[in-house]
Amino acid sequence: MPADQYSVLGEAPGPEELKKLSSDDVHLTIKNLNAGYGKMVILHDFNLFIGKAQSLCLIGPNGAGKSTILHSIYGFTNITDGVIKMGENNITHFSPNEKLKHAGVAYILQDASIFPAMTVEENMLMGGFLMQKPSQAREAAERVLAKYPRLAERRNQNAGVLSGGERRLLEISRALIMEPDVLLVDEPSIGLEPRYIEMVFEILDDLQHNEGKTIIMVEQNAKKGLEFADIGYVLVSGQLAIAGSGDELLQNPEVGRLFLGG
Ligand SMILES: Nc1ncnc2c1ncn2[C@@H]1O[C@H](COP(=O)(O)OP(=O)(O)OP(=O)(O)O)[C@@H](O)[C@H]1O
Ligand SMILES: [Mg+2]
Repeated sequence: MPADQYSVLGEAPGPEELKKLSSDDVHLTIKNLNAGYGKMVILHDFNLFIGKAQSLCLIGPNGAGKSTILHSIYGFTNITDGVIKMGENNITHFSPNEKLKHAGVAYILQDASIFPAMTVEENMLMGGFLMQKPSQAREAAERVLAKYPRLAERRNQNAGVLSGGERRLLEISRALIMEPDVLLVDEPSIGLEPRYIEMVFEILDDLQHNEGKTIIMVEQNAKKGLEFADIGYVLVSGQLAIAGSGDELLQNPEVGRLFLGG
């Protein structure tokens, strides 16, 4: 779609409006972020506010910069301006390892990231590579496996034999090893059959509502993502175009026309 298709979207909401969508207990804040890869700036003056144990879904056309927002939070981009904070803690220039170890941020990749020739259990242990002792990673893996019997049953099988849905479960489980507070999830439903899509969203729902995780996701399936999330942001050409509660965006006629196929 040509970019001018989105020009109808009008004035982007400012930080004050975005803050109102967050709960009072603001967990993660992005202010005036400019970020990209090398010299190429992708995100322009981007703001985001999300409260503890809330969920936020980013939608928008291909190449809009959705994954780049997650990359920036996790420390994969070149940040030229702006601030990223966890609570009062400035984490803008933390490396990915520091994010995972000291800031409680975990990133679940858009592309398949499991090691097919390793067992389910070995894949899980990889999630604990930053832990001081192997025994800590083992304990953590047991804790997560106890939660997901479906994975525990297959712990000694090669991850390569898992179904698409089980692989996604393994990717999420591996990220839980470090007990993160914030989960960055890129396209959880991509490539999955409908029944597995349901399963993945149920898992994320449990992590948010029963374990208090804060979830920031990108979802190409805008309907599913907005039904799931408390907050929805529409990103176009590296800039925020629309924001609202998930329900508000589902009702928004422009969002419907451009992203919900209606
Ligand atoms: N590692 C990288 N190095 C250089 N440019 C990149 C890199 N990753 C993404 N880009 C560029 O940044 C822009 C935004 O890409 P991004 O992956 O954030 O989009 P997206 O909204 O997630 O798209 P999609 O829906 O296709 O996943 C694109 O022009 C892309 O080519
Ligand atoms: Mg992407």
